[in-house]
Amino acid sequence: MFDFDKEFKLGIEQVDREHVILVDMLNEVYALIGADQRDEARRYFNETLSSYVDEHFSNEEKFMESFQYPGLEEHRKVHENYRKSFNELKPQIDSFDDVSFRQALSDAFTWIIGHIGRTDRKYASHYLTQKS
Ligand SMILES: [Fe+2]
Ligand SMILES: [Fe+2]
Repeated sequence: MFDFDKEFKLGIEQVDREHVILVDMLNEVYALIGADQRDEARRYFNETLSSYVDEHFSNEEKFMESFQYPGLEEHRKVHENYRKSFNELKPQIDSFDDVSFRQALSDAFTWIIGHIGRTDRKYASHYLTQKS
């Protein structure tokens, strides 16, 4: 679907590990739907995945604080918007409307990949440049 290493790997071990978990969780939601376990898929998205998103965001914010990243406040705002959007998706995920459900999932996927590839990459580059 996309070049995982090129678009996704930021070169910071702990961060990369968490991003992989996020993508694995999204794949798990798709797998559950594929296996016709829609209730389980909903529960997984609304509980497991969304709480992991919160956890990851707060770990990432702590990490950016640790090297006094100048773009921290801006990045924090982006996370806040994502949190809001995720919460807005929950009713769609809960709905029995298949189109909404799939749309919500594909939005979640696009956001996560786009955020990692662009916004997260900025702090990673800053960190790696500073460190070298
Ligand atoms: Fe991230
Ligand atoms: Fe982020």
